[in-house]
Parts: sequence; C-alpha cells; structure tokens
Amino acid sequence: MSVATIATITPATRVQGRLTVPGDKSISHRYALLAALSEGRSELSNYAPGADCQSTLTCLRGLGIAIDRKGHVVTIEGRGLRNFRSPSAPLDAGNSGTTMRMLAGILAAQPFTATMIGDESLSRRPMRRVMEPLGLMGARIDAVDGHAPLTVHGTALHPIAYAPKVPSAQVKSAVILAGLHTEGTTTVTEPAQTRDHTERALAAFGFTVNVNGLTVSIDGGQRGTGQTLPVPGDFSSAAFWMVAAAALPGSTVTIEQVGLNPSRIALIDVLRRFGARVDVQPVTVAAGEPMGTIVVTADRFGSLEIAPSEVPGLIDELPAISALAAVGGSVTVRGAGELRVKESDRITTLVTGFRRLGIDAEEKGDGYTVVGKGAPAGGVADAGGDHRMAMAFAVAALGARGTSQIEGSDAVVISYPSFFETLERLVA
Ligand code: S3P
Repeated sequence: MSVATIATITPATRVQGRLTVPGDKSISHRYALLAALSEGRSELSNYAPGADCQSTLTCLRGLGIAIDRKGHVVTIEGRGLRNFRSPSAPLDAGNSGTTMRMLAGILAAQPFTATMIGDESLSRRPMRRVMEPLGLMGARIDAVDGHAPLTVHGTALHPIAYAPKVPSAQVKSAVILAGLHTEGTTTVTEPAQTRDHTERALAAFGFTVNVNGLTVSIDGGQRGTGQTLPVPGDFSSAAFWMVAAAALPGSTVTIEQVGLNPSRIALIDVLRRFGARVDVQPVTVAAGEPMGTIVVTADRFGSLEIAPSEVPGLIDELPAISALAAVGGSVTVRGAGELRVKESDRITTLVTGFRRLGIDAEEKGDGYTVVGKGAPAGGVADAGGDHRMAMAFAVAALGARGTSQIEGSDAVVISYPSFFETLERLVA
C-alpha cells in the first residue's frame, strides 16, 4: 500500500458519542466460507465492509460459488463440501491472512490444484504454520520458502490430532475445515485459547463440533445447511473508540450492537486496570455470538502491564492499547513476538510511529513500552500499510498539542473504511 493517502488529525480534548461499528471481520470470513461449504442459500447481514472480507468473497467466486452482494448483505449459494470448481486463475487473498490460511484448509481437500496469491505484506507472512498440519493430513502445498504464493494440490485427506506450537485461530480453523473433509475425527489442541468463532459458526450451520477445554474435534463428512445470520459489530474496531474514550479525560463513548464473544473481549478488563470505567450490557445472542452495548468513560491514567499469557486474547487490540498511554500513564507489553508477523512488524511500526508523534516508546525484544508524559507534540507517523497501525496512530494523535499526519491512512479500508468519518463525528 502506498503512502499517497495522508490523514490529518487535529487535536481533540475528548471524544463523545454513540455509534455502531462495522461487522466483525473474523466472523464474516467464517460465515462466508461455511455458507459456501453448506447446502442451500445463506443470507449474511452486516457483513464486514472491509477489503479483507471482500477478498474471501472474491476467492470463493473463483471457486465457482455464486455470491450476490448488496451493501452489507451478502447472499451465498452453498455447494456442499465437494462441489467447488477448479479456479481458472490464481485466487487473490489481497492483504488477508485469515482468507489465505483458512482457505488453505478447504483447498487441501479439493480434487484439484489451486494457487493463492496475496499482496506484498501477505507474501511476507508465515504460511508454514498451515502447510505443516495440512501436509500431515496428506496435502501437498508448494510455497516460496514458506511464503505465498501457495499452490495447494488437493487430495483425499486423512484425519490428524494436532497440537500447534503457536496459538492461532487461523491455524486451528484451517485444520478443522480440512478435517470436515476427512473420514474420521480431526482434533486440534491449542497451546492457549484463541477466538472460537469457527466452532460457534460450525454449530450455527448445523455441523457438530466438540470442544473440551483447549481441544476441538470434528468428524468428517457432515453436511451443513444455509442460514440467515447477522454479523455482530467488530469488537476489534470498537477497541479504537474504547481506547480513545479511556485515554482522553472528559470522554464517554457508547458502542451498540458490538460482539461480546468471551474470547475477544479481554480489552474490557485491560481498560479497567488502566483506570477507565467500562459498562457492558449484553443484549442478545445470534448464532451463538453474544452482542450488546459497551460504554467507556475516562477516569484515571494507570500503569498497565500486559503479560505474555494475555497476548493471544488481545492480539488485535495491542496497537489500540498502546495508544492508551499517549498522554498519561504507561503500557508495557511482553511476549508479543507474534506482532512482528502481522500486516506489518507491529512492534517496530508502532514504536517508530509513536516516537514520530512525540510519544516516548521503546522496543524491547518481543514487546515494548509506551510512557505518556503529558500531551505530545504531534508529528508525522507512517502506518506501514497496516490498518490497525493507521487507527492506533490516529487515536494517539488526538491527544497531541499540534496537528499530526498519518501516512498511508488508506490502509483502514482493510477492516474499517469509515474510520476517519466516525473519528470526525466523535471529536465534534
Ligand atoms: C484471526 C486470528 C488472529 C488475528 C487475525 C484474525 C482470525 O490471527 O490476529 O486478525 O480471524 O482467525 P492468528 O490466527 O494468526 O493469531
């Protein structure tokens, strides 16, 4: 992504307002993939508007799936487990690691060969973590030194019991989706709990999945049925407004219809530890996914330590969390080496960008520290082509004394295309 687009952030004393956030990115990917693998029509409402979830739809179309999209409503004609068509061109996953890794699990079982490509960032991200288990199940996957393009030679897979070394919902999901296509029971035992949307979504589409602590297992050969499902608001997008409200004294933000899946909401406790007031009202549950209203009010600046064991539950919120200490308090993160293999090296991008905004930040191996020392000067930060970095810098820059610029701010199209419009509304 180029740095051609630059967002200008003018200082704001506080954020204030009531809003909804776009549909959840993780859930949208899963509903689209499972709708394609089920039989009959599915209708997904509030489908995530970002480019990543569009990449999943584009890849599915390349596999012969009929998809109609009208704004945030996506209709998918499922073809069952075995009726995908051999694609006539490489499948383009764009910037989306979730698309490439989860789809690898499905392609591994198809009776054809398919190639997946991605943009520059995705082509740098590690793919061995899915190639290894899918290889153990019998698939042959060619890559360039463990990176995309990935050419998946599908075959009849056999079930495995697998214990990934890295906690990753994408890896867990790829193996489970591959396991659906085997004759027998496939089991994944995670080293730590990761988001469980795949498990909940499988049940919503009528598949039986068993969860026992950190072990998930699925029997192959089941059939799913098309569903009408709403996608909850994305907690990871809401995180930026929750942090802005906690970091700027005098702020209150209310976010409605946001997903409250227990495996995603560790940030709530983190904000309370920092010193914010957070009120959560669960309202409803749809397809096993709870959603409701979150109200965040700034109160105190605290010293926050994020321990390695907390990292899997906060992995997408860490860029936002860092912005908590832009003005006051501190945030120290340890054991977060996974951040280096996200859409950018999020440790280096973050520390470099924060320093350019005039905020004290220091890299520490697999973590970093941010220390707020009153309103920073503001400056020019480069998002490094990374949507969550662009949003974290924008939130951090709100508390500055002077105007700031975020280079490459167009990266927000990946998960939150309307981010800057919402920002304008909340600071008005
Ligand atoms: C995701 C899982 C996480 C997360 C990513 C979305 C998912 O990645 O960082 O943004 O939807 O499964 P890992 O599985 O690599 O931890």
